[in-house]
Amino acid sequence: MGIESSCDETAAAVVRRGTETLSNVVASQIATHAPYGGVVPELASREHLRNIVPVVRAAVAEAGITLQDLDAIAVTEGPGLAGALLVGITYTKSLAYALGKPLIAVNHLEGHIHAVLLEQAQLAQDSLPLPALALVVSGGHTHLYLTRRNGESWHYRNVGHTVDDAAGEAFDKVAKLLGLGYPGGPWIDALAPHGNPRAVPFSFAQIKPKAHRKEAHGDDWDRQFRFSFSGIKTAVLRYVQTHDLFASIGARRMRLNEISDARPPDALALCDEETLNLIASFQRAVVDDLRRKTFQAAEVFDAASILVSGGVAANRELRVRFTAEAAERNVPIAFPSLALSTDNAAMVAAAAWPKLLDHEYATADLSAEPSLALGR
Ligand code: KG4
Ligand code: ZN
Repeated sequence: MGIESSCDETAAAVVRRGTETLSNVVASQIATHAPYGGVVPELASREHLRNIVPVVRAAVAEAGITLQDLDAIAVTEGPGLAGALLVGITYTKSLAYALGKPLIAVNHLEGHIHAVLLEQAQLAQDSLPLPALALVVSGGHTHLYLTRRNGESWHYRNVGHTVDDAAGEAFDKVAKLLGLGYPGGPWIDALAPHGNPRAVPFSFAQIKPKAHRKEAHGDDWDRQFRFSFSGIKTAVLRYVQTHDLFASIGARRMRLNEISDARPPDALALCDEETLNLIASFQRAVVDDLRRKTFQAAEVFDAASILVSGGVAANRELRVRFTAEAAERNVPIAFPSLALSTDNAAMVAAAAWPKLLDHEYATADLSAEPSLALGR
């Protein structure tokens, strides 16, 4: 069983032998955090406390098993919100101790990679050629990992990351700025096809390594891919200021607040052409930057395939443009199903399976690691 509570989803899932999903239960806290336009850590911890027992019970019932049938229980150790992580970790430690089952710690980012590997393993023709270049792109992360397998264990080499905001964070902040709902990704995804993606020319600066830091990192420094998404957020703000969009944004925010359970289609009628063009251009710029660097990294590191995971991997334009470029370059590419793109516990259970085979168990002093890194 996998248990996940690193951010704003409380999740539990039962996966057999790392490949067969017997249950996958997610309790989302979107409604709790929506009024604040972002995750409020204290509220997240409180919601995890409220949800964890019913979510675990539902996962066991849906799988048609009892807790005694489990081989091991895995939990997300980090990265994530300390208080949120602690709820899952404390609960899982107690459960594993009470049942006398092995406890396994999983890195959330490794989990996102295994969301794809889990589903690939379920396909008859099986799996991606390795090494794979994995783009993990979510509300908290934008990372590139060269992913290899050695026997049953998996190895990750971090070959790129964001130096400031994550891509999902940019989606969320721009959506908030434009008076759209939370989380922003799905809103921008739904509205972008109605605008012209070439209307506003956003550009991404190339981030150059600083000479003094190059020494500290050796040759690898040159082969690190860097993302930066805080600049485009400021560029959108500047566009809004120079084009006097604040009044229409305020009106849209008010109208959406009046609709109970407002959805992206409700916003379409409340967006003029200029706003839709801005949204489309923002999304195109972010997707193209992710695409360009991911494919460049795949080439530089001789990856045999590409996989994209994390909440932003649900984005339709991202899937279309990545798939087109992969076809052009003749590189196999894989995405998770939409349900496994965002946070879930099936990915935690799947990532735990090789660790179970290797007897890589956590000890009773396991604690939350809010800034846990993956790979070297
Ligand atoms: O993986 P995830 O559920 O949680 C983190 O680990 O952060 O990712 C959530 C992020 C949010 O920033 C959300 O806006 C973004 O994924 N997201 C999307 C889409 N669906 C979710 N971004 C762009 N397009 C989408 N369709
Ligand atoms: Zn995540």
